Amino acid sequence: MNFNVFVTRRIPDVGLEILKSKCARVDVNPHDRVLTRAELLEAVRGRDGVLCLLSDRIDAEVMDAAKNVKVFANYAVGYDNIDVAAATTRGIVITNTPGVLTDATSDLAWALLFAVARRIVEADRFTRAGNFTNWGPMLFLGADITGRTLGIVGAGRIGSAMALKSVGFRMKILYTDERPNPELETKVGARRVLLEELLREADFVSLHVPLTPQTRHLIGKEQLQLMKRTAILINTSRGPVVDEAALVAALKEGTIAGAGLDVYEEEPKLQPGLAECENVVLLPHIGSATTWTRSKMAEMAATNLIAALEGRMPPNCVNPEALKRRG
Ligand code: GLV
Ligand code: GLV
Repeated sequence: MNFNVFVTRRIPDVGLEILKSKCARVDVNPHDRVLTRAELLEAVRGRDGVLCLLSDRIDAEVMDAAKNVKVFANYAVGYDNIDVAAATTRGIVITNTPGVLTDATSDLAWALLFAVARRIVEADRFTRAGNFTNWGPMLFLGADITGRTLGIVGAGRIGSAMALKSVGFRMKILYTDERPNPELETKVGARRVLLEELLREADFVSLHVPLTPQTRHLIGKEQLQLMKRTAILINTSRGPVVDEAALVAALKEGTIAGAGLDVYEEEPKLQPGLAECENVVLLPHIGSATTWTRSKMAEMAATNLIAALEGRMPPNCVNPEALKRRG
């Protein structure tokens, strides 16, 4: 077919192969970095479809620069980087990649929980630096995990997977969500509570909500103060769900014991002071970064993009109204 598509950053080959088999022209960002705004605006011109990343801001300006575009296929489950309402009014289809990254991301949330609770990264730094001179009764005392209370904020696919994986650790599970989650309640005895109660009771609070106007700064100074002084906050969702300045203050003042973060409020920038805190583990947004998951995401994003170009409903369309609008 005569489709002309652009991919804003190199993705695993399986996705590019799908695009090449169906499109006359497939161009990929030649740089090993995120495109600048000017480069993005230029690159989308004249395209029929764009495969984009969570680090590309796809707003009305980009859509208007890409006059022929029928679809932006996001290489992520979260699509807060895209102005979906602006796309829908223009009849532009938006797609995402749910499901295939649920295990990878919930696994990483557990990795962060363990790393912070048992001070793994700090202890590794200590050992590498040659400071392990003798075994010590008080060396790197951390927090217990087994039998403690895990608070899941947002029991969608990823939050639920994290909760279900707690079974071996005999944890008490509290969760917040707009809807009850019967699977969690029967399988792990989870209890749905208000955020305030979850924050007061949980030893570990793990965030799994999408970023929306309602969840921006869901965790701020007041919420951090409700948490136990021994509690640990884990964020693998989106940075702006946490007021990062308030978090740094809380970590410094001992309002909470620690945090494990994979996402930041102004990615890739870190809040001043965050990197100096010993009681945090900081990762560069790698929740879905496993070989299998990233290949699946590439396959899904490419399949979604092609379906939209061919006028079919993509398997993972987030704004089906857009397709109807095109007729
Ligand atoms: C990653 O953060 C994603 O939304 O897929
Ligand atoms: C994301 O896939 C979620 O529903 O948690």
